[in-house]
Amino acid sequence: MCGIVGYVGQGQRSAVDVLMEGLHRLEYRGYDSAGIAVHEHGAISVRKRVGRVSELARLLDEQPLSGSLGIGHTRWATHGGISDVNSHPHLGGNGEVVVVHNGVIENYAALRERLQALGYAFRSTTDTEVIAHLIAHHLEEQLRLGQDGTDRKTILGAVQLALKSLKGTFGLGILFRDHPNLLIAARLGSPLVVGVGKHEYFLASDASPLAGYTDEVVYLSDHELALLTPQGMEFIHRDHGRTAPSITVLDQSAGDSELGDYPHYMIKEIYEQPTTIENALRGRLDDDAATAVFGGLNLNVQQLRRIDRIVLTACGTSWHAGLVGEYLIEEFARIPVEVEYASEFRYRNPPLSDTTMVFAITQSGETADTLAALRESQRKGHPTMAICNVVGSTIAREADGGIYLHAGPEIGVASTKAFISQVTVLALLALYMGRLRHLSHPAGGRIISHLRQMPDVIRKTLLCHDAVREIARKYQGTENCLYMGRGYNFPVALEGALKLKEISYVHAEGYPAAEMKHGPIALVDENTPSVFIIPQGTMYHKVMSNLEEVKARKGPIIAIACEDDEQIARIADDVIYVPRVEEYLYPLVTVVPLQLLAYHIALLRGCNVDRPRNLAKSVTVE
Ligand code: G6P
Repeated sequence: MCGIVGYVGQGQRSAVDVLMEGLHRLEYRGYDSAGIAVHEHGAISVRKRVGRVSELARLLDEQPLSGSLGIGHTRWATHGGISDVNSHPHLGGNGEVVVVHNGVIENYAALRERLQALGYAFRSTTDTEVIAHLIAHHLEEQLRLGQDGTDRKTILGAVQLALKSLKGTFGLGILFRDHPNLLIAARLGSPLVVGVGKHEYFLASDASPLAGYTDEVVYLSDHELALLTPQGMEFIHRDHGRTAPSITVLDQSAGDSELGDYPHYMIKEIYEQPTTIENALRGRLDDDAATAVFGGLNLNVQQLRRIDRIVLTACGTSWHAGLVGEYLIEEFARIPVEVEYASEFRYRNPPLSDTTMVFAITQSGETADTLAALRESQRKGHPTMAICNVVGSTIAREADGGIYLHAGPEIGVASTKAFISQVTVLALLALYMGRLRHLSHPAGGRIISHLRQMPDVIRKTLLCHDAVREIARKYQGTENCLYMGRGYNFPVALEGALKLKEISYVHAEGYPAAEMKHGPIALVDENTPSVFIIPQGTMYHKVMSNLEEVKARKGPIIAIACEDDEQIARIADDVIYVPRVEEYLYPLVTVVPLQLLAYHIALLRGCNVDRPRNLAKSVTVE
């Protein structure tokens, strides 16, 4: 939520180019408005505008900037409406300070009143502007006390005093009018990463803007500040003073985040799913022991055998993957599993024994509620693992251990390939925990061989694309839609409905098919299509009865069924055929046509599939 970039160099490249490229790559974090501030001819110049980064680029064409020091921001509005004036960067005092911010300042109203009483004039209605004025205020105070304003210590002191007054979360990039070579970053709760170059440094909310510039990064910790100049970097922690930075070498190329020949990231990522599964499986299948192998669980076999309950906590699509995980782990490992919304778990104080293992499932590794749930569980002494995509993200770093998805950057705001990856990893986890308990060697071997086939199965599933496109045309005008499935396909019904809601703004609800009779059936009429996920398996005839009930009430039916199903076309209005697989692997298969259906309906309705309104990829506020 909100993306921050920063750059300081000594003339080897244009700060504006770095900032604009970075903002494009971070746009998935927010796209209400965008802005940059650049140190130019001894002053700070700001350009900001409502709308996408491309709007800002147009503004810069009309009013160009140049310099070697700058900060930029792409906004997902929290406090204050979407307007040019509320866009970041925000100036403090008389323009001696400029700030970009990701996070929420909870006590901003009180601070604003105090600063207004001191004579500070507010231009915006954001919480961020209080930070800019607060720093300007402390700077002025230090100067009044006779400190040297050109001394970096004075600047640092002012920032530190300002940060002390803030309640809430922040990732900050700060520039000073009188320091043409200094960029300060500060973090509490909102992620920031410093890219290390040769006489140049980069700052960003995540590592994606750094690809192509540097692969050496330093992740800022909470309560840590970074002082960046072309001559070097310095890190200062609130409690530990100066700290030695720990440099991580990243493995990413700028190309991973490019669209290539695809028109949208969402469709690119849907088509990457066979490879995503391959990446999630790579090096993790042990044929001899008929089990999975994980490098990072950081618990020994004895400790893992003692686990008698698993809690999976997550938000959004990751929560849906968790639901599939519940079915998988309970079936193969016979360990009771609960799936908790992270936002509820963090405040609910559920009783957890010391043999409970908690997993936070998250694509970004930055979701505020999931992070808080992880910390709450760790505070109570539970081994807390992460199933995470973004290497080096806050959750990945803070978890006691975990499993990476290796899905590559997911840019489309509506999650697709991360879901497929999470389900694959959860299947591996179920296999692994099962083999530590009752699951036999042959049963483990069968699961391995089924999983190995999945990349090709998904390639085959994607052949339904043309059929889905046609069906989308037929239903593009619908305003309500029901999604129903049972067993392993119930979470897929939720996920299918979420996809449609997110990107096409059509009201959609997912239900376990049998629950239909307890409410949703009242919505059925000739204008409300029902999507039934009805592949061959133990639930087939049960779901078929539900389908008949909808048919009897004249509800249009779209069925996701197996390619060898000969009856379904007689009842359903439209059928999307998918390959037949083992029941527990259906979520990987049946979700694909639902992703495609949402994608095409959204396109036909003229929606922006990669940047749906009001949403953000990484939700770093509560
Ligand atoms: C946002 C995104 C969703 C995502 C959810 C959880 O709502 O738009 O696509 O599923 O956050 O994100 P996470 O990164 O924790 O998986």
